[in-house]
Amino acid sequence: MNVLVVDDEILSVELLKQALTTMGYQVSVRENGSEALAYLRDHGDCRIMITDWEMPDIDGLELTRRVRQESLGHYVYIIMVTSRGGTANVVEGLEAGADDFMSKPFHPAELEVRLRSGLRLMALEASNMTIFALAKLAESRDPETGAHLERVRGYSRALAAHMASNSPCRHEIDATFIENIYLTAPLHDIGKVAIPDHVLLKPGRLTDAEFEIMKRHTTEGAATLNSVLEVAPHASFLKVARDIALCHHERYDGTGYPRGLKGTDIPLSARIFSVADVYDALISKRVYKSAFSHDVAKSLIMEGDGTQFDSQVVAAFLALETTFQTIVKTQAEP
Ligand SMILES: [Fe+2]
Ligand SMILES: [Fe+2]
Repeated sequence: MNVLVVDDEILSVELLKQALTTMGYQVSVRENGSEALAYLRDHGDCRIMITDWEMPDIDGLELTRRVRQESLGHYVYIIMVTSRGGTANVVEGLEAGADDFMSKPFHPAELEVRLRSGLRLMALEASNMTIFALAKLAESRDPETGAHLERVRGYSRALAAHMASNSPCRHEIDATFIENIYLTAPLHDIGKVAIPDHVLLKPGRLTDAEFEIMKRHTTEGAATLNSVLEVAPHASFLKVARDIALCHHERYDGTGYPRGLKGTDIPLSARIFSVADVYDALISKRVYKSAFSHDVAKSLIMEGDGTQFDSQVVAAFLALETTFQTIVKTQAEP
């Protein structure tokens, strides 16, 4: 792992270099902000930068801002080293886009801990990106767009977060659940990769036989995720992904598919997600329908209260109307 150190003081450079090399990192040093920027542009493998706050020319704060403005194509984790104290400075640094801070003189053990949390965050980012790439792959065979995936994960997170404090099933929802539902919602239709073109891409109404084939996207998606779960049984996000993929077309009254599950037999994540997915389908233009307004979509969701949808989720939806509309505005079709 390559770490870029940006500092104009030889002594602190040497200290950092020594500590980092002992920890097994490769170290590159640049003495000022402009050189650091040039280095990052040329070295896509450099994902961690430790920069001094006070430097001539471009200081650490300005450098951080510029790195965030550049489209480097990957995230650079930035740790700022400062002799300044006080919360005001930390806030200033955070606003500029720094991820973490360390004060001078630093202790190698502290540096190690801070780097480790940086690596953890980047691994998370990588798995998030993998999930999204996978979802997009499924989507490449499906007319639903990337904006749809972004919106449904946004609604789902908002619904779960609201229900965490306002609904009778709040004890089932914690921060991990909310994060997992956000992370995996884009995978709901991944099983569509297994559906033949003449069914998946058919512009008109599906025959009964074709609809039976179409329904399989739920079990196909779940089967794929289950096979990943077998090798990583403790990955809670995979369980949530599997539940959503398998049960997002179940209906609260038991008339859905693939298994006709009823009420709370349907996993909570899927009950939440189905409101998000149906709402988005309603407000979007599809081959077979035009886009409905928010109000029409809302009344249709309300019609499904207790039959298609769990009433607790519908209640959360009604409380979050403005949030839904904001997500629609910010995640519009390209
Ligand atoms: Fe689906
Ligand atoms: Fe969908």
